[in-house]
Order: sequence, then structure tokens, then C-alpha cells
Amino acid sequence: MAEATILVLNGPNLNMLGKREPAIYGATTLADIEGMCRAEAATRGVAIDFRQSNHEGDLVTWSQEARETHAGIIVNAGALTHTSVALRDALLSSELPVVEVHLSNIHARETFRHHSYIAPIAVGMICGLGAKGYVLAIEAMADIVRPTP
Ligand code: DQA
Repeated sequence: MAEATILVLNGPNLNMLGKREPAIYGATTLADIEGMCRAEAATRGVAIDFRQSNHEGDLVTWSQEARETHAGIIVNAGALTHTSVALRDALLSSELPVVEVHLSNIHARETFRHHSYIAPIAVGMICGLGAKGYVLAIEAMADIVRPTP
């Protein structure tokens, strides 16, 4: 059977990792994170499709399309986490398991970051562990989507 493919979605401003607010987000770039995800996926027997967009509509469309092509979605929606009912609805429409990731601990930051529109529709959420959160999310999602031998 073909490997299950996990869609890893990154929202606005995550392309700036490494340069952006390093005191909060660290020196790791999004390319570094993609490499870590690929390495973890290889050890877990799953494939990943790693994407980033600054445009809400791209994330909505990719989430809709994933129901035909992917086995699960890991999402760091950036600021859209706190604002986008559209992205939440699109993730729901995929009918796929969703794991939410944030580099920073959104609950230890400004009040407006404490609420996530995605968390209630996610299997689980990892935040505050930096880039390692993505690796842990791949591990968790692999267990969810990997077909039992
Ligand atoms: C973030 C947290 C969000 O509040 C913020 O808008 C981001 C990054 C994180 O990974 O910690 O862009 O999703």
C-alpha cells in the first residue's frame, strides 16, 4: 500500500522564521523545520507535503482539496488561528484528522492569542515547544493515519 501523506500547513509570516522576533520564535527557519519534519516522517513510514502561504484563501483551498489526496493535516495557522472561521470550516470539510501546532506557548502570550478557532476541531494541539512541536505532531499523526500492517 502507498505511504499515507500528511499535509503540513503553515500560515502567514511563518516564512519569516529565523528573522522574525527571534526572542519568541528562535533562529530556526521554516526550511529547517521542513527538514526536521521530513526526517521524522521517514522514520515513521509516512510522506509529508509541506506548504506555507501568507494568503488565507490558499490555506482554505489546500484544506478542501486534501480530503481527496491526504490522510491528515498538521497546521500552524499563525495569526489566522485566532481569526479565521473560514480556515476552521475548511479543515472540518476535509473530514481528516487535524493536529494544531504553535512554536510559542500561545496561552502565555497576549490575551488575543489565547483563543484558537482550530483547537476545538483538532485531535490535539502542541504549543510552546518550538520546532520540536512539529516533530511531535508528525509522530502523533503517523500513529493516527498509518494503516495497520
Ligand atoms: C504562532 C502563534 C501565533 O499567535 C502567531 O500569530 C504566529 C505564530 C506560533 O507558532 O507560535 O504567527 O502560530
